[in-house]
Amino acid sequence: MTTGSAPRSGLAAVSAALLAMNRHLEVRDVLKTIVSSARELLDAEYAALGVPDDHGGFAQFVVDGVSDEQWKAIGPLPRRHGILAAMLDDATPQRLADVRADPRFGGWPDAHPEMADFLGLPVADGDEVLGAIFLANKRCPGPRVPGPACGFTAEDEELLALLAQHAAIALTNARLYERSRELTIAGERTRLAHELHDAVSQKLFSLRLTAQAAATLVHRDPERARDEIQQVAALAAEAADELRAVVVELRPAALDEDGLVATLRTHAQVLDRAHTARVAFRSTGVRALPAAQEEAVLRVAQEALHNALRHAGPGRVDVSLDRHGPQGQGALLRVADDGRGFDPTAVHRAGRHLGLVSMRDRAGGVGGSLTVESAPGKGTVIEMEVPGGC
Ligand SMILES: Nc1ncnc2c1ncn2[C@@H]1O[C@H](COP(=O)(O)OP(=O)(O)OP(=O)(O)O)[C@@H](O)[C@H]1O
Ligand SMILES: [Mg+2]
Repeated sequence: MTTGSAPRSGLAAVSAALLAMNRHLEVRDVLKTIVSSARELLDAEYAALGVPDDHGGFAQFVVDGVSDEQWKAIGPLPRRHGILAAMLDDATPQRLADVRADPRFGGWPDAHPEMADFLGLPVADGDEVLGAIFLANKRCPGPRVPGPACGFTAEDEELLALLAQHAAIALTNARLYERSRELTIAGERTRLAHELHDAVSQKLFSLRLTAQAAATLVHRDPERARDEIQQVAALAAEAADELRAVVVELRPAALDEDGLVATLRTHAQVLDRAHTARVAFRSTGVRALPAAQEEAVLRVAQEALHNALRHAGPGRVDVSLDRHGPQGQGALLRVADDGRGFDPTAVHRAGRHLGLVSMRDRAGGVGGSLTVESAPGKGTVIEMEVPGGC
């Protein structure tokens, strides 16, 4: 820059362009802002930015200075060859007085605007080329003469390099943002899988047992078989309700109606009747817990009981809920069975075993903790502490 005022206005324009870039998080919006800022700042007739794909073409191609009709008339996106390839594959800047005179120039479609002077730079993050930004036809002061005109200067190249660097940062940020959104969605999916496991797969398991019982009774005792089949219908309806609740994130209805202690007691009684093992429940002096903690305690108790009855072959299972913590505000849930026990460190996390992982997540999710004490031949004790609170 040669005049006193130009650098300041140049800086203000660059700053405005950078601010605009950082306001957008969608990749396409970022690219559009970059391209129009570059065209305006460098006073060019046309500007474009291409982000390559893995197949020799472009995943994104954004232009400025070309009308929609013109753009449609030009036809398919350019392939990556010639001068574009030089910028993208060799990461080298291209400043040409007349692009048409370059030996690598391969012509363009009929509707393509006529271009002469050309400035193109790679947009790179370290060694990785994210794209290329290029300008054509610098607007010259005075009437435009055909052929090589005033052209882009070394100063223009510096300015475009600066924009390209910021474009790289903005593109990387936008990609990270999109990635983090994907991760949030994946996290949400995991949560849903755990909820479904806790709420629905247990119900379906009971349903299967009851249906089997009905099948064995059907000839011997049709009257009882009918009762069991009615039970199957009731369990199926409950499973459907639970499924709906998971989808809209409702609490188990019984918690609101009867409270945690009564819900646990009923659950234990039902299992006691349904299984040969003795299932007993007792509770002392637990204060009301925040809703999320009550729900977590109920779900962990259900899964621990379910595991004991399904895997341990126990003579008895004892469930207790007691007051706990320094001010007695919290609660301690304990589910102990005298069954075959297992080695908790040997349960591989991956694969189909969700129960233990889900119990741990639930305890952690409400500021509590979970311990699993078990060994082959020694039975199993699951304890969950929750802090309580207002
Ligand atoms: N009380 C228990 N007694 C004996 N083994 C148990 C007990 N609880 C868990 N296990 C063992 O730990 C494994 C993992 O339990 P986990 O609840 O994570 O998965 P799962 O019950 O196999 O499947 P699901 O995902 O349906 O719960 C079980 O397969 C079982 O071998
Ligand atoms: Mg389980």
